[in-house]
Amino acid sequence: MSSVANSSSASSLPDYRAQSPAVAARFARLRERPVVLELEHLGRRFVGDSGPVEALRDISFRVHRREFVCVIGPSGCGKSTLIRMLAGLDEPSSGRVLLDGRPVSGPGPDRGMVFQGYTLFPWLTVLKNVLFGLQMQGRSGASAEAEARQWLELVGLAKFADHYPNQLSGGMRQRVAIARALAPNPRVLLMDEPFGALDAQTRAQMQTHLLEIWRNVDVTILFITHDLDEAILLADRILVLKAHPGEIHEVIEVPVPRPRSFAQQQSPEFQATRRRLDELIHPAAAAPAEPLPIIRLTQAGDDVE
Ligand SMILES: Nc1ncnc2c1ncn2[C@@H]1O[C@H](COP(=O)(O)OP(=O)(O)OP(=O)(O)O)[C@@H](O)[C@H]1O
Ligand SMILES: [Mg+2]
Repeated sequence: MSSVANSSSASSLPDYRAQSPAVAARFARLRERPVVLELEHLGRRFVGDSGPVEALRDISFRVHRREFVCVIGPSGCGKSTLIRMLAGLDEPSSGRVLLDGRPVSGPGPDRGMVFQGYTLFPWLTVLKNVLFGLQMQGRSGASAEAEARQWLELVGLAKFADHYPNQLSGGMRQRVAIARALAPNPRVLLMDEPFGALDAQTRAQMQTHLLEIWRNVDVTILFITHDLDEAILLADRILVLKAHPGEIHEVIEVPVPRPRSFAQQQSPEFQATRRRLDELIHPAAAAPAEPLPIIRLTQAGDDVE
């Protein structure tokens, strides 16, 4: 771990590692919970067009039951590769993933996934999209339908059961995707930038919805985001990765108490965490970015500067 960043006398912010007694007690309890997901020395190499790429190196991390972990890091640091391996959609080159102590090999109903793109089946109604996961488990009939309707209720879409995805807004579609992922009762919900395509206001609503859903469901969440404030608002712990190769940079225990709300964004502990993430993700431009080559595509740009 790198040097103490927030202890400077010039700063009025607390150390981002300082925790109130209530927050410290919560983390102590969290550490006592069973480990649901264990990543053991996980590595992934690809053979790209310009030679081998070491996307991830030696990732070891444990996620406890009902923990909410956010993963952040610069583009290309291996976040999606990591979540794909957890989902069983890709295989590690080294190391392994354990779910409830058992090695993961291939996808399974114990892991639900929500991606950024809208992945609903456009030819199925909202209800049938949610039923789909249950049917994959061999469930059918009135009890499966009743359960699917309950999930729609939980995400606030009971009235839209008979709509088709193209009749819904982006936020509503992602709520259906969450209901569909949760319906088979997965142990872990894996989310890869699920709100990345939404406008700021919808995104904020979805963050609130997701926290509410998580409070009501026994599920462990691993959530990838580029948005630092989103990570602080949602997470118990934030796994910060660095790129080339993708390695763990730091694991931050978010010192902001729960229940969370947007009002806490002004709090000293939120701000201190935000500043630490900024330092990790956007290190003070020691080397300014290479200027892009300017290619003039039109003749009309002469008078704009
Ligand atoms: N199938 C593949 N073949 C070759 N290289 C790959 C493959 N998939 C990923 N990579 C490389 O692995 C690295 C990590 O990619 P990944 O998509 O996991 O990054 P990411 O952190 O999700 O990025 P972003 O924030 O842009 O979504 C990148 O250098 C990428 O080019
Ligand atoms: Mg990605």
